[in-house]
Order: sequence, then structure tokens, then C-alpha cells
Amino acid sequence: MMNLITTRLLTIACLLTAAAAAGETTWFKTFCQGNKATTYLHFYVHDLRAGPNATLFTVATSSITATSPTAFGRINAFDDKITVGPDINSEEVGRAQGTTTSMDLNVLASSMNLNFFLTSGEFNGSTVIVMGRNQFSEPARELAVVGGIGAFRNAKGYAITSSYSNDPVENYSVLEYTIYVTTSWRCSNHARD
Ligand SMILES: *[C@@H]1O[C@H](CO)[C@@H](O)[C@H](O)[C@H]1NC(C)=O
Ligand SMILES: *[C@@H]1O[C@H](CO)[C@@H](O)[C@H](O)[C@H]1NC(C)=O
Ligand SMILES: *[C@@H]1O[C@H](CO)[C@@H](O)[C@H](O)[C@H]1NC(C)=O
Repeated sequence: MMNLITTRLLTIACLLTAAAAAGETTWFKTFCQGNKATTYLHFYVHDLRAGPNATLFTVATSSITATSPTAFGRINAFDDKITVGPDINSEEVGRAQGTTTSMDLNVLASSMNLNFFLTSGEFNGSTVIVMGRNQFSEPARELAVVGGIGAFRNAKGYAITSSYSNDPVENYSVLEYTIYVTTSWRCSNHARD
């Protein structure tokens, strides 16, 4: 699986270099392959777990969460800012809203329920829906795009997430996301234009 991810990350690197060379915005790009439109998305999600601007809260725990080395059974709900760059003050392009459940008895891992609600440009109002098992010891974790709303209706795809930074004192983490979302109707529409 790591080889697969490495190959994909190399593809992303090429794509980013090409986009940067063309002087384009680099947080998204759509390309057509046959009648399939694949949109590449790249952004940062801010997990603020403490302080006046916190966006992530624990909503439930199990009878063993407090003594479990993996915080088993803890459920967090969040409404995290999504930005183009890793700095929280860079351009906001949406919110990552959902829940995570600590569901592995042996290693730190969460079951993800993520709605990437985009609020910028051509994707304003569109949502990418992502689910999957997120094991934090892996540097790059693969999650599934299970669907989408708006521009991403009937979407399929995958997301790669990694920890960009973590401040255990301030309880603030930045997560990097690269997502490939494929729909089979957007390029067909363009072909008929
Ligand atoms: C909370 O957000 C406000 C408004 O963006 C900002 O001025 C303030 O510095 C933030 N506080 C902390 C502790 O980050
Ligand atoms: C996104 O759409 C909302 C609702 O239509 C609108 O109020 C807002 O100005 C739009 N934002 C951008 C950045 O286009
Ligand atoms: C961060 O989380 C730890 C562990 O839950 C807690 O002890 C600490 O007070 C938190 N820090 C802040 C700034 O709230």
C-alpha cells in the first residue's frame, strides 16, 4: 500500500509543479480523462482542541476511554477551518465538519466521518464526503471518498491525509489533505457545450 501511496504522491508533486509553473492557484485542479472528471484538491485542516477558538470537542466517551491507552470509544465532533496554506490565517476555502470515533483497542486510530464543505470559487456550496480508518502512526493515511454533493455529485475517489504539525501544549494540530474526486458526468457535460 505504501508503494501505491508513494506513486500517487509523486503524481501530486508533478501536478503541483506544473500548476505552480503556470502561475495557477494550486489548491484545486480538474482534468478530464475520457468522460471522467477528476478534481485534485489540496488543503490544510485546523484541529483547535482548546482555547476560545476551539473547533473540536469531545462529545462522548465509553466506560473504558479514561483507562484505555487508545482512548477507545471517544467521539469527537468538529467544525474545522480549511485553508489553502498551512497557516491558519491563509485563505479559508471551507470547513471540515464531522465526527471521529476512537475504535481500535490496540493502536491509535479513528473511524472518520468527514464532510469537506467548500465555500470558495467554483466549489462554493459543494461537499466531498470522506470516510475510513485513520491510523495515526502511519505518515500517510488513505481514506475513501464515498460521495459528494453539488459539483461532486456521484463522486468516488480517495484522500491522503498526514499530520503537518502538532502542538501538544496548545492542543492544536494541522492536517494536510490531498483528495482525488472523480465524477463521470462533468466532462460529458463539457463535451456537449
Ligand atoms: C481567536 O480568534 C480571534 C479572531 O480570529 C483572534 O483575534 C484571536 O487571536 C484568537 N485567539 C487565540 C487564542 O488564538
Ligand atoms: C458562496 O455562496 C454563498 C451562498 O450563495 C455566498 O453568500 C458567498 O458569498 C459565496 N462565497 C464565495 C467566496 O463565492
Ligand atoms: C491540552 O490537553 C491536555 C490533555 O487533555 C490538557 O491537560 C491541557 O490542559 C490542554 N491544554 C490547553 C491549553 O487547554
